[in-house]
Amino acid sequence: MSRDEFPTDVPAVVTCGLPYANGDLHIGHLRSYIGADAFNRALETLGQQSIYVCGSDMHGTPVAVNAEEQGVDPEDFALEWHRQYEETFPQFNVEFDNYGHTHDETNTELTQEIVRTLDEKGYIYEKEIQVAYDPEADQYLPDRYVEGTCPYCGAKARGDECDEGCQRHLEPGEVENPTSTITGNPAEYRDRPHKFFEVSEFADFLTGFLDDLEGTSNARNQPRQWIEDGLQDWCITRDMDWGIDYPGEDGDSVAHAEQRNGGGETADESDLVLYVWVDAPIEYISSTKQYSERVGADEYDWERVWKDEGEIVHVIGRDIIQHHTIFWPAMLEGAGYNTPRGIAAHGFITINGKGLSTSRNRAIWAKEYLEEGFHPDLLRYYLTTTGGFQQDVDFSWEAFQEKVNGELVGTVGNFWYRSLLFAYRNYEGTPDASVSEEVRERIEDAIDDVRESVNDYSMRGVGQAATRLAQFGNEYIQRNEPWKLTDDEPERAAQVIRDCVQIAKAVGVLIEPIAPGKAQALWTQLGEEGDITDAHLEDALEAPPRTFDEPGELFEQIEDDRVAELTENLEDRIAAADSSSPATEAETESDDTDASEPERMTDTEDLEALTEERIGFDDFQELDIRVGRIETADGIEGADDLARLEVDIGFETRQVVAGIKQLHDLDELPGTKCVLLANMEPAELFGVESNGMILAAGEQADLLTTHGDADVGEKIR
Ligand code: MSP
Ligand code: ZN
Repeated sequence: MSRDEFPTDVPAVVTCGLPYANGDLHIGHLRSYIGADAFNRALETLGQQSIYVCGSDMHGTPVAVNAEEQGVDPEDFALEWHRQYEETFPQFNVEFDNYGHTHDETNTELTQEIVRTLDEKGYIYEKEIQVAYDPEADQYLPDRYVEGTCPYCGAKARGDECDEGCQRHLEPGEVENPTSTITGNPAEYRDRPHKFFEVSEFADFLTGFLDDLEGTSNARNQPRQWIEDGLQDWCITRDMDWGIDYPGEDGDSVAHAEQRNGGGETADESDLVLYVWVDAPIEYISSTKQYSERVGADEYDWERVWKDEGEIVHVIGRDIIQHHTIFWPAMLEGAGYNTPRGIAAHGFITINGKGLSTSRNRAIWAKEYLEEGFHPDLLRYYLTTTGGFQQDVDFSWEAFQEKVNGELVGTVGNFWYRSLLFAYRNYEGTPDASVSEEVRERIEDAIDDVRESVNDYSMRGVGQAATRLAQFGNEYIQRNEPWKLTDDEPERAAQVIRDCVQIAKAVGVLIEPIAPGKAQALWTQLGEEGDITDAHLEDALEAPPRTFDEPGELFEQIEDDRVAELTENLEDRIAAADSSSPATEAETESDDTDASEPERMTDTEDLEALTEERIGFDDFQELDIRVGRIETADGIEGADDLARLEVDIGFETRQVVAGIKQLHDLDELPGTKCVLLANMEPAELFGVESNGMILAAGEQADLLTTHGDADVGEKIR
């Protein structure tokens, strides 16, 4: 089925992946928010009725784990971040028509209603499954409370996602070698009844859905493989307090729930909440509904869009393709809603080829960018036009500078300023002439490029169409040399400048989705009334006002020394992040994703052979291994490789000699948690007594530490 091109007569809604309300936003997140904002603005310039909605993702373990770490209530914690996001987005010219959150009444009610409908239609059943449990913490371990190995690709994975490897969603119980992120203990499994959504019933539907789906090729193609491999039903409940309750008796869901495995405990709905990925995408609908209720259904009818006819477009990062192309459309179809027309999944932002990490401060922060005093449109332009949408983009200040200085300052800004200044000085505004055929056609071509790019979901194409038009403008002015014509051929000169002012205006209209602030500034310089946001592509060909004031330059060069300083700071930050101990899961934010392919396993030829001989548990018990903290670390006179450490092991402080002097910066060591074999025979090295042995891995003496927050003195077992 081929669809009508944008603009259509049917209202559109553009959404972007909801930010987890659990920490500062960085430029990775902004790629989603700016990308979707630009797409929505671009649709509007085509004359498409469209709104842009989103909200904060308040639930799930990404929020619960971080709130717990801070010792605060998850609701207060998430609401605080939600408030901060509401303030941050407009500063990047990201303008939502509605920005809600998943914990609000609209979303809670709608989520429960949709789950009830799925249940009534027989798509939900109950099944007993094995759920990870930490006996020491006396707690079930949903999602980010557990980590282990991905059963599909072998990468290190979280309980519900292979975030560093194949990006697959993982069902409870799937992750191999599970360990609790609370205590670091190996997880036990306990039987628990849970609710399942029959995704497997939707395989044919989803295949057809993907055939029709527009957007980026990764979103259209990757899911086919998952369908071919066989779809699993989806566990939609979790043993947690924080979240939206599984709809209870009043909705009759228990009565309808089918026992698939006979016997066993029946799911007690009171301590089951819905998996965060159930209620999160429903916020797309809830946020549309809130907008509709605010402006009135005559202006925008959410039910028409979501249930009858609407152009639904999701902009997301590539890590959440499966949720949006499998689970979400199956839920929508099952509950009788419309499914998306397009899904645009962008690549990741990396630094030095590695993913961003909130806990390790391995990022460029949204706030930090603004504090540097850079205009938001510079980042908007950089993020939308660097590399293809699906490609990962490695951020560097040099690349940012090159884009800004080359394309925004050198091409767009330069053309705007020189043509408007010339027009102002010689004609006090737009000269009295009509636009030449050549220039009219060139502008029409650029408009066509924008229209095509939007239909290809390419924001880069939109930005490039504008920049290329400005480039043409520069060539046009250069080729016609109006400064030589003003005296001898005044009509020719007026004609050339008339063309240039038109091109300048057209570049403004075309670039508005990407750089709305700068486009508005140009609009004002041209003496245009109102808001450039309301302009349509055709306005690029409308005559600008006859007179305007003296223009100013709209873009400023980014100087080399500034970039050198920013780069140096970033390098220091990255070095610190990369040398820091692995972040614990509790500190780890939503997207601590190594964007590179999963690290290849070490070639085993390089490893010491495994010992064949086995020891009994009793033998192991004889080793008294303790958690310690290094208090001091000094060199030992006459010994090049040895360091003298004082290690606190709770009961006492031990002096230990370790061969790590060349491999570690001793000044960095105090305060570091380590693991110490406490009942090692004492020995004397270079006249210094060593009373224990700290454990380290490999040639580089990578010091062992604990994964969680075990106390000093705790025994390793
Ligand atoms: N809450 C979920 C999305 C639910 S949608 C119903 C989530 N949140 S997130 O905070 O982790 O990410 C929000 C958006 O930012 C997602 O679109 C995600 O793909 C994107 N990105 C987060 N880190 C990113 C990079 N480092 N690079 C590019 N985009 C990234 O996922
Ligand atoms: Zn994997």
